[in-house]
Amino acid sequence: MNAPVLTIDGPSGSGKGTISRRLAGLFEWHLLDSGALYRLAGLAGRRNGVSLEDARGIASLATSMDVKFEEDAEGNERILFSDEDVTRDIRSETCGEDASRVASLPEVREALFAFQQSFCRPPGLVADGRDMGTQIFPDAPLKVFLTASAQERADRRYKQLKDKDIDVSLAALLQDIERRDARDASRAVAPLVPADDAYVIDSTNQSIDEVVAEVVELKNRIIGIG
Ligand code: DC
Repeated sequence: MNAPVLTIDGPSGSGKGTISRRLAGLFEWHLLDSGALYRLAGLAGRRNGVSLEDARGIASLATSMDVKFEEDAEGNERILFSDEDVTRDIRSETCGEDASRVASLPEVREALFAFQQSFCRPPGLVADGRDMGTQIFPDAPLKVFLTASAQERADRRYKQLKDKDIDVSLAALLQDIERRDARDASRAVAPLVPADDAYVIDSTNQSIDEVVAEVVELKNRIIGIG
C-alpha cells in the first residue's frame, strides 16, 4: 500500500456512505464507493442485454467500464458512466437489488479487484464497502465495521425516500433489507462479515456526528494526525 487506508464496511443503511464521505472530506483523502461499482456492473448488464446470472458476461463488462467519480460545484457526488450522469439512477432500489445479485458472482468480484485497489493513492483512502477490510485492503491500518439494527436502517431509508417524495412501504423496505443482508452475509465469496481486527461500531442510537467523531479519534490515535 502506498498510502494509509481506512476501511468502512457494513450493511446498507448503516450510514457508512455518508460517514465515509464526511471522513474523506475531513482528512482530504480519496474515497472509494465500492457499492457504486457493483451497481454500475448491474446497470451495464441491463443496458447491454446481458443476463445478471451470466457471470462471465457481467465480469467482462465490469472490467471495461468507463467510470468517473466527480464532485459538482456544491460538493455533491457525480458519477459518470461512459460520460452519462447516472448519479441518481444507480441509487434506485432496482439497481441496489441488481448490485447485490452481481456482487455474489466470484468472477465479477475478481474483475473489480484491481480497479478497487487502484484507488489507494496518497495522501490516503477511505474505502466504503462490504469486504474492504477482509479482501481488498486486508493490510489497512484502521478498519471499521459499522452496523445498525435492521429496523433502524429501514426507518432511515424510509425517511430518505419520503424526503424525495418516493412512496414506499416501511414493511416492504424492512423485508428487502433483511433479504439483502441474508444474501450478502451468506454468499460464498467475500461475505459481509467484520474483519478480525475491525472496530465494530453500532450506530443504532448514534448520530452521524457522533460516529464521525469516534472514527476521527481512532484515526488520529492509530494512523496519526495530518
Ligand atoms: O453499498 P451499496 O448499497 O451501494 O451496495 C450495493 C450492493 O453491492 C450490496 O447489496 C452489496 C454489494 N457490495 C458488495 O458485495 N461488496 C462491496 N464491497 C460493496 C457492495
